[in-house]
Amino acid sequence: GGTSSFFDSSLLQKQQCVPMSFIWPEESIAEAHQELQAPVVDLAGFLRGDEQATKRAAKLVREACVAHGFFQVINHGVDSQLILEAYDQMDTFFKLPVHEKLRVRKTSQSMWGYSGAHAGRFSSKLPWKETLSFPYHDNIPEPIVTNYFNSTLGKDFELTGMVFQKYCRAMKELGLKLMELLGISLGVERLHYKNFFEDGCSIMRCNYYPSCQQPSLALGTGPHCDPTSLTILHQDQVGGLHVFSDENWHTIRPRPDALVINIGDTFTALSNGRYKSCLHRAVVNRYKERRSLAFFLCPKKDKVVRPPEDILLREGTRKYPDFTWSDLLEFTQKYYRADEATLQNFT
Ligand code: SIN
Ligand code: FE2
Repeated sequence: GGTSSFFDSSLLQKQQCVPMSFIWPEESIAEAHQELQAPVVDLAGFLRGDEQATKRAAKLVREACVAHGFFQVINHGVDSQLILEAYDQMDTFFKLPVHEKLRVRKTSQSMWGYSGAHAGRFSSKLPWKETLSFPYHDNIPEPIVTNYFNSTLGKDFELTGMVFQKYCRAMKELGLKLMELLGISLGVERLHYKNFFEDGCSIMRCNYYPSCQQPSLALGTGPHCDPTSLTILHQDQVGGLHVFSDENWHTIRPRPDALVINIGDTFTALSNGRYKSCLHRAVVNRYKERRSLAFFLCPKKDKVVRPPEDILLREGTRKYPDFTWSDLLEFTQKYYRADEATLQNFT
């Protein structure tokens, strides 16, 4: 009675046995045996404007995106102190008593707010995690993230809002630079993708995974592809992100100085299927809570998603029909609890 235990991470953490609703089917929890062989791309030269370094980086990115839709970047220009501050601020939120967190509880009407471990988008099984999601864009004069925290959690979270405002701005900036690099890597007009994403509203999500007494039965985040375009993720040092490639799950060893980049469904369509949308998941462990910071770069909602002319001229046939980002978003919301197969048929 009262507050459901699903919403209280300290209660989740104390569970000796994982409740049925958190036990995932075997194919989802199959163990990972090897580390993924994916490049760590040094962005320093590209960000400086060095043409040779840019060519090298674009080649690595291309190979990684064709193979798995996954790579990491270092020397990405995001202040490491800012990343640490973002973790500190997310901790202050997740450590609140559950009734406080539920003040910003996400409803089925909205994408924004706090969610206790309730069903993920594509699955009837429950993820072993809590999340806090909010929007980011830079096309209004007032800072949107600061406003979000002020209007939902009040003065106590003013600093949190300011830190995440700054964090999201840095992510957006890097996201647009990466769009430039992706454009180069696909041999299309250099600024094409960057311009496409400039005025979009992106999504920021903080993931908090409590430790789990039976980690091999549960999952922090079930297997999925991101419907968005490009994800920039920082994972803490605990480890738990896995990528599916060559019929197997692979671990991604955390590096504090690296940001994880993965291609989402929308970019797959923008590349006419050239670049894979990365199938990934997050596992939990018995000993330690785990955190990650995910920024999802999205186009403006009414933009029509179609590959650039350069690609169409070269390839002739289209792999996907036109759609808008808001069409796809609506679809994913609608199938919030539908099974994974349904969505995989769509993308
Ligand atoms: C996600 O893909 O939604 C989360 C991945 C992570 O926490 O590492
Ligand atoms: Fe994801």
